[in-house]
Amino acid sequence: MSVKTEVLRLLEANREKDLSGQELADYLGVSRVAVWKAVKSLKEEGYHVEAANNRGYRLLNDSDILSAEGIRLGLDNSYKDRQILVYKSVDSTNQEVKRLALGGAEEGLVVLAEQQTGGKGRRGRSFFSPPGCGIYMSVLFRPGDEKSRNAVLLTTAASVAVCRGIRCVLQEEPEIKWVNDVYFRGKKVCGILTEAVSDVESGKIDTVVIGIGVNYRAPENGVPEEIREIMGFVCEGDAPLPRNSLAAAILNELYRLYEGLEERTYMEDYRKWSNVIGREVRFTTAVDLDDETQWKYGTAVDIDRDGGLVVQMRDGGEMVLRTGEVTLRVNDVDKEIVCRNEGVYGRDI
Ligand code: BTN
Repeated sequence: MSVKTEVLRLLEANREKDLSGQELADYLGVSRVAVWKAVKSLKEEGYHVEAANNRGYRLLNDSDILSAEGIRLGLDNSYKDRQILVYKSVDSTNQEVKRLALGGAEEGLVVLAEQQTGGKGRRGRSFFSPPGCGIYMSVLFRPGDEKSRNAVLLTTAASVAVCRGIRCVLQEEPEIKWVNDVYFRGKKVCGILTEAVSDVESGKIDTVVIGIGVNYRAPENGVPEEIREIMGFVCEGDAPLPRNSLAAAILNELYRLYEGLEERTYMEDYRKWSNVIGREVRFTTAVDLDDETQWKYGTAVDIDRDGGLVVQMRDGGEMVLRTGEVTLRVNDVDKEIVCRNEGVYGRDI
């Protein structure tokens, strides 16, 4: 580990506390100059480190840069050994995990980026990923035979992991819009893109990548008009918390949920946070959303054990929505929320 990494680890573990240069140097077995150089380099990278002659170095609470050291601090002991890679900029963290998976990366690897230049949403859409404003992260899973049959469950588990993470860090309840959009204070703050890669010879699912995009704070340059209405941010007017804490909280939950995926115990939380159950919905599988004759009407009554949305149809009977091509609209008292739930099954799960 480099001196810089070691110094960052110690500063992160002691946020808002002074660490004397001499103590750091002694502890790491390096010179004071080496510590000073490490701090200088961290400051150049954007870390807010205060330095005072008589007190030493202090990492300020408003310093919010994603780092493996900061995230690892918040991980449960059993997950501390997971490989964490943080990039300043990458095309897409999902793409990067897929590339690393081909090279033999281990299950549990997580890739994060401060910015994505080609962030992907579902159905080939792009995901707005400006620098310093989000948690853009992807996790690699290599489910065995049994788990790969339930790979679609991972997507619903991931939304629960995000919600539990948000609740743990912000002590407020989020919501889930079926299948896997997370809402907070009435706006979408997180989207999830699950991609499966099959082995060419066996056709079996070899790798599953869970991509999580959390809108953490609003970018200074604003948000593109087409998403302004729907896009929300986890921190709006709140005292800013380091993104590392939320990333770690989500990862702890995700790793834990994955271990017990088949038991589906998390479905209770999924139902609790669902903002669709009990509401009137209409849905269509048609490509042409203006074709009124194709819309079906009903009330969402449940989420089944496989994550399907159970709808009590207006004209009698029940339907379970689990197709990859459903457009669902939820009627609200004063607004109509539109969401496309695509790729539930298929390559984008
Ligand atoms: C959606 O809402 O349509 C899903 C958005 C998923 C975005 C995340 S950000 C991290 C990961 N990398 C990507 O390119 N996409 C996912």
